Amino acid sequence: SFTVEERIERKRSAALLGGGQGRIDSQHKRGKLTARERVLLLLDSDSFMEYDMFVEHRCTDFGMNADNNKYPGDSVVTGQGRINGRLVYIFSQDFTVFGGSLSGAHAQKICKIMNQAVMVGAPIIGLNDSGGARIQEGVESLAGYADIFLRNVLASGVVPQISLIMGPCAGGAVYSPALTDFTFMVKDTSYLFITGPDVVKSVTNEDVSQEDLGGSKTHTALSGVAHRAFENDIDALLNLREFFSYLPLSNQDPAPIRECYDPSDRMVPGLDTVVPVESAKAYDMLDIVHSIVDEREFFQIMPNYAKNIIVGFARMNGRTIGIVGNQPKVASGCLDINSSVKGARFVRFCDAFNIPIITFVDVPGFLPGTAQEYGGIIRHGAKLLFAFAEATVPKITIITRKAYGGAYDVMSSKHLRGDVNYAWPTAEVAVMGAKGAVQIIFRGEPNEVEAEVAYVEKFANPFPAAMRGFVDDIIQPSTTRLRICRDLDMLASKKQNNPLKKHANIPL
Ligand code: COA
Repeated sequence: SFTVEERIERKRSAALLGGGQGRIDSQHKRGKLTARERVLLLLDSDSFMEYDMFVEHRCTDFGMNADNNKYPGDSVVTGQGRINGRLVYIFSQDFTVFGGSLSGAHAQKICKIMNQAVMVGAPIIGLNDSGGARIQEGVESLAGYADIFLRNVLASGVVPQISLIMGPCAGGAVYSPALTDFTFMVKDTSYLFITGPDVVKSVTNEDVSQEDLGGSKTHTALSGVAHRAFENDIDALLNLREFFSYLPLSNQDPAPIRECYDPSDRMVPGLDTVVPVESAKAYDMLDIVHSIVDEREFFQIMPNYAKNIIVGFARMNGRTIGIVGNQPKVASGCLDINSSVKGARFVRFCDAFNIPIITFVDVPGFLPGTAQEYGGIIRHGAKLLFAFAEATVPKITIITRKAYGGAYDVMSSKHLRGDVNYAWPTAEVAVMGAKGAVQIIFRGEPNEVEAEVAYVEKFANPFPAAMRGFVDDIIQPSTTRLRICRDLDMLASKKQNNPLKKHANIPL
């Protein structure tokens, strides 16, 4: 028999080997790293403090209590560590042990790190690679999921929660990522669905591949379930490190400030001519964003979904900011169901975590049509309106061109407590475009053409809004970076509270 020291050592080395070399090899063959390799790549070297290496599943059915069915640590690696010196809690599901399936013990390990993350105020990152509920354990495993879901919900708005899907994630397992703030995927090797292709076939008679049903393309472009997809495990983990650098550790933490080598008073002369003279002509809002933020670095969220709105993180003079911008290049930058929901969720994340919001406006209005109305654009558009209105973080708005109709109100207008609202000289703040307006108020009258000219003269410019104080200033576009950087300094001490309530009732 072995001494205690020897037993500890044997268990530790067994835990390090997960499901054994054979299964590690087949994981590698699929182009995937193991749970441990992923953790070590994501965290700063030597920073990982592992918990619960000695935890084993407690199932006795189906021969599970046999020694060769026990794996120290079970099917998940958990603990805490640092990313660029900043604390993070992590769990990484180990596909080599029972397909990373979730046992009661596996769930308890995850709950333990979630509890501590919330208590000390540090983000939670989940690396998902799992065959779902541990089939041998039945309801024990379902209870485990619910324990995690509850913690996801209670931690929401307290610490950032990020899911990276690096393998299968199906059935009940999908709801933990769905509850977290951001879900990223690895191309070709990860998928998310409620039920797999076989069940789909038997219930709806649809033929669909795993990739088409729940692969990264589907979720980043069609369903909006995932926020970004990366080339492979390494690319995903390195991007996650970068993404992490934008986030505060908790809602008690100010957004991080990084040393900045890009002058805050840098002029951007190109912006003076970026908006085309013809009001109907498109331009790329991304060009504006890139040229204004520090070092042109912009971490876009959902770049392939609802491309008529742009959202993502950047820095201004070193300070993390959230950017929301209409994209005139896609559907004229109109607001529709998907772009409203995409924008609203992003704005709410920023507001929950003290990240100032910079909004670039060029919006011709809401997208008309039965598809939108039947789909509930009223209810969904209200989300974005609600999110901007309730947000109490610093809010700076720049109207680059169109700000028409209700969409003008929605896009972080002065009326929704925008702190600093600017118009460029090319701004047109109006109820609608001149042509449409004249057709309604001068319908059939002989002087329609003159009326249109007069309407443009009167409304298709920034003055009506500026005269009423609805924008604070009309600024030279080249000075936009300088103005925003100064305003962010000024607004750093902003304090604003909403009326006391249990919680608001955002339209869902
Ligand atoms: N519970 C227990 N063990 C599981 C499991 C689960 N939910 N899912 C996978 N495993 C085990 C397999 O028995 C296999 O064990 P082995 O290495 O001892 O042979 C190992 O994990 C790998 O699974 P395998 O099926 O060989 O891998 P795959 O890559 O071919 O397929 C899945 C992966 C996830 C598609 C497939 O395992 C699967 O469909 N699992 C069940 C999913 C499910 O219905 N879960 C319950 C609902 S939430």
